[in-house]
Formats: sequence, C-alpha cells, structure tokens
Amino acid sequence: MTFWRIDTPAQTLVLGTDGGMASCHYWGAPLPADADLAALVAAGTGGITGGMLDALPPLSLIPEARRSFPGQPGLVAYQDGAPLEPEWRFEGADQGEALTLRHTAPGLRLEITARAMDHGLIALSVRLSSDAALTLHHLALALPVPPHLSHLTELAGRWTREFQPVTSALDHGARLRDARTGRSGHEHPPHLWLTAPGTTNTTGEAVALHYGWSGGHRMLVETLPEGRRQIQLGHCAGSERAPGTAFATAEIWLARGDQGLNSISVPFQRAIRDRLPPARQPRPVHYNGWEAIYFRHDPAELAQIAERAAALGAERFVLDDGWFGRRDDDTSSLGDWVIDPRKHPQGFGPLIDKVHALGMRFGLWFEPEMVNENSDLCRAHPDWVLGPADQIRGRNQLHLDLSRQDVGDYLFDRISAILTAWDIDYVKWDHNRLTPWPDAAQTRGVYALLDRLRAAHPAVEWESCASGGGRIDAGILTRCARVWLSDSNDALERLRIQHHAACLLPACATGSHVGPRACHTSGRILPMTLRAWTAAQRHMGFEMDPRELTGDEAATLTRVTAWWKANRGWTQAGDIWRLDRPDGALAEMQLAADGSRLVIFAAQIETQTALQPPPLRLTALDPSARYRLRMIERPCGHPASATAITRGEVVLDGASLMAQGLALPPAFPQTVAVIEGERL
Ligand code: GLA
Repeated sequence: MTFWRIDTPAQTLVLGTDGGMASCHYWGAPLPADADLAALVAAGTGGITGGMLDALPPLSLIPEARRSFPGQPGLVAYQDGAPLEPEWRFEGADQGEALTLRHTAPGLRLEITARAMDHGLIALSVRLSSDAALTLHHLALALPVPPHLSHLTELAGRWTREFQPVTSALDHGARLRDARTGRSGHEHPPHLWLTAPGTTNTTGEAVALHYGWSGGHRMLVETLPEGRRQIQLGHCAGSERAPGTAFATAEIWLARGDQGLNSISVPFQRAIRDRLPPARQPRPVHYNGWEAIYFRHDPAELAQIAERAAALGAERFVLDDGWFGRRDDDTSSLGDWVIDPRKHPQGFGPLIDKVHALGMRFGLWFEPEMVNENSDLCRAHPDWVLGPADQIRGRNQLHLDLSRQDVGDYLFDRISAILTAWDIDYVKWDHNRLTPWPDAAQTRGVYALLDRLRAAHPAVEWESCASGGGRIDAGILTRCARVWLSDSNDALERLRIQHHAACLLPACATGSHVGPRACHTSGRILPMTLRAWTAAQRHMGFEMDPRELTGDEAATLTRVTAWWKANRGWTQAGDIWRLDRPDGALAEMQLAADGSRLVIFAAQIETQTALQPPPLRLTALDPSARYRLRMIERPCGHPASATAITRGEVVLDGASLMAQGLALPPAFPQTVAVIEGERL
C-alpha cells in the first residue's frame, strides 16, 4: 500500500492505493506527523462475516462497479453504446502544492487532485480524459463518511425561503439530491454537513462539504450493506449532454471541526471572502428600487426616490428590471438590451447625474441568459433558444443557449455597449427561470461571458441573483462579490435565511435589504427596529419606496444605517459566529478579524418558551481577556424586564462569557437585542 496525506490545522485526509484506484482511508481529526498510516488503516479495517464477499470491495475515490462495489458507482459513462467499466491502474503521483494521483485504463486517463487550502479546508477534484469520445452520465468523487458521524444536514429551500437546514439520521439506504434545475438552486444549495450526536452551533464534531459549481450538483449519501457510508459529489447527472473526450468535476471543499457548526462555517466564510472579486471599499449602503417601482420608471419619481434614499444613508442606487425594450411587465423584451426611450428619453444621463450629485454610485439590472418570445431578439434568432419549442415557459421567458459562441458574443456586445456608454459600476445579474434540462455547457457559458465582461470592464462589480438566492455557490462567488440572498425582505424570514446561510457566506457578500413596510412576499408588517437591524447584520441596503416611511421609521433606519457605516470596516471583514439559543430565538456574534471588537444580534422570533431565557453563551473569545459589553438596542418587552446588560455596561472575562454567558432581558417576539463589545 502506498499512502499520501493532506494535512491542515483542522483535518487530515489519508489517501492510498494498492495499485488500483486510490481510496480515502482516513478523514478526520489531525494526525501526528509521524502517525503509522499502515497501522492506522489495519487497525480500523473490519472483519469478514457471513453474507459478505471474501474481501470488502474498496470504497475508492471513484467507486467501481466492476469490483463488486455494492453501492452506487462514481463513474457512469458509455462508449460505443456499452457501459464503460475501466480497469483502472494507478500510474503515479505528483506532489507539489497539490497532490495529483494519476490513473490509467486502456484509452483513458483519470487525475484526482487534492490540496490543502487556507483556513483548514481541503479541496478535491477529478478530471477524466479519453482517446475516443464517450458519453458521460455521471462523474463523482466519493469519500467514506467518518463512522461516528451519525446525522446529515442538507440545505433545502424554495423561492423566498432559502437555506433551510434539514437533518436526517443516517441509517439504511441512500439519500440522493440531484439538482436538475440548471443552477445551484433554491432547493439545492450545494452545501451539506455531517455531525456527531449532540452537535450544536458551538460544540461537537462536524464535517462539511461544498461543491463549487453553479449548474446543479448531485449528492449521494449511502449506507452500504456492511455498514460503511459513502458520500459522493459531482455535477448533476446527465448534465454533460454531448459526447466528449474531457470531463471534470468542480472542486469539492471539505471542512472539519470540533467546535460545532461554527468550526465548519467560519472557514467557509473566510475562504469565500478571500476569493471574492475586488469590491468597492468600504462596501456602500445599497438602494435597489425594484419593490418601490417595479416596471414603472418615471424620471421625476426616480429622482425623488434617489433623494430620499441618499438622505437615509444610501451610497449606491441600483435601477432594477424595466429599463430596456418595451418592458412594462414580465411578458416582453428580455434580450433587447437597449434603453427604452419612453421611460428614459435622454438615456441614463439625467438619472446618473442626479445619483452622482447625491453622492451615490449607479448600478443596473440585467438578466442576460434569458429571452422573451415577445422580443426583437427572439424574432430575429428563434434558434438561439435552449430546449424544445413546446417546453413549459417560466415567468413567460425562455433560456438562451449560452453554449453558442454567437449568443455569447451578442450578449457581450449588448451589455458592454451599455456599460461603455454610461457611468455604471455595478451590475445585478439575474437568472429567473430554470433551464429546460440540466446542461453543464450553460454554466460554462455563463462563467465565460461573465469572465469576458469582467475583463473588459474591470471597474464594474457584479451581484449574483437568481430569483433571490437560486445561484449561490463557490463558483459564482469568485465572479460576483455579492449575492441577493432572497427575494424575501420579511425580516423574520430573512433572519433565519441569513443565519443559516452563514454556513457558507461572509457578511460582506450577503445582500440584506429593508423592504416595504407591508412585506410584498408575506404581507407581514414588522417594526422598523427589527427590519433595520436585520439588514445591518449583512451587506446593508434598502428596497422600499422611501417616501412611505414615517418620521419615526426614517429616524430609526437612519440611526441603524449610521451604526452600520461606522462599523462596516471591521464587521464586513470579520466572522459570523452563530450562538446556541432555545427554539424560537436566533443569535449570532460578529467578531472582528483581530478579536478586538464584537457585536451580538439576539433576535426573538417567537414567544419565549421559558419566562426567563437562559443566558446567552458567547464563543470564540479569548478566555483570559476581559470584554466590555454595552446594549445599543434594547428589545421591546415587559417594562420591568431589566438585566445587568440593560442597566449599564458589563465587564467580564471571556471564559465567563463563554461558560455562563449573559442574561438577556425577557423580550417580546419580533424583537432584537443588539450588544456591542470590545476587548479591553
Ligand atoms: C427577480 C429578482 C428580483 C428582481 C426581479 C426583477 O425576481 O430576484 O430582485 O430583480 O427579478 O424582475
């Protein structure tokens, strides 16, 4: 047996081969540098009993059907109509910054790459090439699930309710997610974790896996007959529609930790943040007019809205859908990326001048991958549409075939012309319908188009939106510095969505807006304190018609926005640590990168289960340092509901704050407490 190991401060991965396809033999807590890997593997190998083959079929990195593997194989492909079941031979390894394991079979080559990343993460990927064309159904990398991890948490969701964790116990059979909608998906963000019993936000062992691809992933977690469990990740099945000679998975990122879900979330937040494309610093307070005006673009009204938004503290003004073609509703004009002279008779000049005069930057919405049948583009190029003519429409629109060079060139020219003609330094890039079928070439096409536009317009920042959070993953986040997390501006929904999305997303990349008073996606009316502080937990923005605000609402929003601006220097560069709370409450702490400052947001969503909530235990503090804490937003509650932190500053050591915590005042539902802290 030959072994290799990948080590980070958080985990060790041991790969090995006996001459065939390599396997992962250990994935877990860091091992000592001199660990005897052969003895480790021997000590952990189970025995044979009745009902088994005479040897255990290997759970290799690409599980092979031809070796009697009892679970789902990692490669399903066809050549000349016959299933491809290669007899892989290990050929050699290259170990530099990354470890590459080379395998061959007649006419085929397979390279598996593993590397230690920053922040304790490990990245894995695989590349398959062939002399003759083959049809790939499915290519995935497989790892053994560490045996003591008993629960799988996937992220489910829907439009306006993204990033909802769903946990199941791993017992028999398989759990499969095959994200077939052509994007990472509201219902399938490519992120999951496995935990030991009892793991919470702050304690317990966990591993997490992320698939950095925007076109939909396939996840399989399967218990094998003898009890081993495999987890596989790759592109969604069947998404390589054309026969080819080269295929690759995206990178799978692995995290591991012993300090609960935070220890597998903060490393992802940091890794994502480090790889974001350059963004304006400090991050400007955002205004997006979609929920204020929808398709109604009236220059006088836009000017009034811009004035009010700037007075509240906005620093960027984004003009959303409705500016092009004859787009008076969502039935027409996608694809016709030419300014509508009825709405903007002098182009964007007057609006941009107004926005700039108010001290804001100007951004614009596009939905490049789409076309309406009622558009000049579709009339001229009906053959540019992806999928069959009788396909079901989505929001009255069809998907362009981004694998075509002429489609990419057209979109590049049209978008580039607008960005060249006007002083625009921000684009919200939307994607509002599913592809008619999974097609990896579409994802490659959109990456190529975005990369080309980014190279041609380096000063422009890009935001990823797909009906809210339908395309959020490490692939898009190397191209877009912000995501529109959800179309729900309902603060109660948003609190939950953004809290769970912190398993991956740093605050600076997560758009969060204060929406209209009566929420357009839930009808709920929530207090401005809750709405404003919810947005202030991430990259803050507004999306209501600011003319609707009462004096009190405007004063609260201006105050919270001023707080956000005064603190964004460290909050947007810091980490989000989720804290453990009873059901019906959520709390998180944002901690500066150097640990010197913190802010706690403790939201009470439903009525408290106990009359007195348990003290809020902090995490990630220096146990021996002392911290001064001060409540800057007192949650609405019973008039007598005072605790030490409502009476004045609390000064306490980190160990006490983590072991016992801080009593919060009993609070009404739909309220938030905000506590600032500094290390003394
Ligand atoms: C999607 C987006 C919204 C808005 C509209 C415009 O729904 O998620 O934020 O941009 O499209 O049509």
